[in-house]
Amino acid sequence: MNPTVSAATGKLGILMPGMGAVATTFVAGVIASRKGLAHPTGSLTQTANIRLGKRTEKRNPKIKDFVPLASLDSIVFGGWDVYGDNMFDAALKAGVLERGMVELIREDLEKIVPMKAVFDKRYVKNLEGSNVKPQTSKLELIEELMADIENFKIANDCERLVMVWCGSTEIYHEAKEVHSSLANFEAGLASNDPDIAPSMMYAYAAIKSGVPFAMGAPNLCLDIPALEELATLTHTPIAGKDFKTGQTLMKTIVAPGLRARALGVRGWFSTNILGNRDGLVLDAPENFKTKEVSKGNVLDGILDAEQNPELWGDIHHKVRIEYYPPLGDNKEGWDNIDIFGWMGYQMQIKINFLCRDSILAAPIVLDLALFLDVAKRANLSGIQEWLSFYWKAPQTLPGLEPIHDLFKQLEKLENTLRYLMGEELITNLGMDYYENVEEDVEL
Ligand SMILES: NC(=O)c1ccc[n+]([C@@H]2O[C@H](COP(=O)([O-])OP(=O)(O)OC[C@H]3O[C@@H](n4cnc5c(N)ncnc54)[C@H](O)[C@@H]3O)[C@@H](O)[C@H]2O)c1
Repeated sequence: MNPTVSAATGKLGILMPGMGAVATTFVAGVIASRKGLAHPTGSLTQTANIRLGKRTEKRNPKIKDFVPLASLDSIVFGGWDVYGDNMFDAALKAGVLERGMVELIREDLEKIVPMKAVFDKRYVKNLEGSNVKPQTSKLELIEELMADIENFKIANDCERLVMVWCGSTEIYHEAKEVHSSLANFEAGLASNDPDIAPSMMYAYAAIKSGVPFAMGAPNLCLDIPALEELATLTHTPIAGKDFKTGQTLMKTIVAPGLRARALGVRGWFSTNILGNRDGLVLDAPENFKTKEVSKGNVLDGILDAEQNPELWGDIHHKVRIEYYPPLGDNKEGWDNIDIFGWMGYQMQIKINFLCRDSILAAPIVLDLALFLDVAKRANLSGIQEWLSFYWKAPQTLPGLEPIHDLFKQLEKLENTLRYLMGEELITNLGMDYYENVEEDVEL
């Protein structure tokens, strides 16, 4: 039986650890859209259609008219940051949006002030902020985060909450014993284990409170058995990781095309320059390594060397990110793709993407928050693989290969929405259209 999605009554609070470029661009865009000052382009929940039934039925409603999503008017925003700037000042510092636009919504943005962060400089080398909770014990910090969550809910009269990590990329570290089970993790909190990163503490506090959590950075966080166990135990949906924007988005658009036409790939060199605070954080090698690993696996999942060694057995895949302040949030990416076709003849594709990172990430934050809220109202819990569409490194059950192809991910997302709403799934087989034609001819 299909699960039912209860109605989206009351207010939905969206909490963000990290209120920098992505978070402020997201919040400003929602507020501006509410006031009719901007259009939420790029957000599936606000602008995309979904086909229902047969093609001949011509039923293509907007997703927001099909699924009971929280409305933009019902959203309230909150969060934490290492810097104490309110969202108006933070948006100006991030420099993504034009000052004129930010001024139009100044009053709303000024009211959103970050709570004190749980921060550990060992995990983010290049930041130095003062809006930080005193370094007491990890257990006390968790209690404080859970109290922040509860107080925000009461003060803003929210019916439900979701949390989306929009904070920095933490240093690369691998899962250890302390992450391997909930019992070990909780023992680690009690003994102040240094391998429990700040992002894991936000995630723990959210999931323990039954608040769905999404991990926007490539951090090792949700994808540890301890937090997966907690999510199942508290019936909380989780999804991660690393928002799929910019160069990786392009990769998962182009690579499925090459695969579809059985073209060979010898090399894929990607480099980009960016100058925002995210770029500054990624300038530290330990933090860059986290991003590199998350970006690196994308091609393997689409151009599978084991399945087809002749075409993709020896791809030289290299990813570079350079911090270059003059560009600010306007990232420029270059891809050089060496491919080969019929009789092994070589060809090249060059992509030069002049993108705006936070402009691509903001609609993802909105969609994830609204879909995770739907998941919670549909009583789904644990890893939400149907939201892979939004991730560079989609989280799946251990042993289950993630799907990276953007178009397969979309199919999965749309079919999940159809399933939740009791509509027929679409397989694109379509032979029934022609069976009817044969019957007509026989008549
Ligand atoms: N913009 C994109 O296209 C994109 C794509 C994928 C992933 N991401 C990731 O999203 C995250 C946000 O990107 P951004 O451009 O907004 O970066 P940003 O540097 O502008 O904002 C991140 C904010 O997080 C804060 N922060 C760091 N540690 C914190 C903690 N422990 N608690 C609370 N706040 C903390 C920082 O002070 C900063 O203000 C980054 O991790 C980035 O790698 C961004």
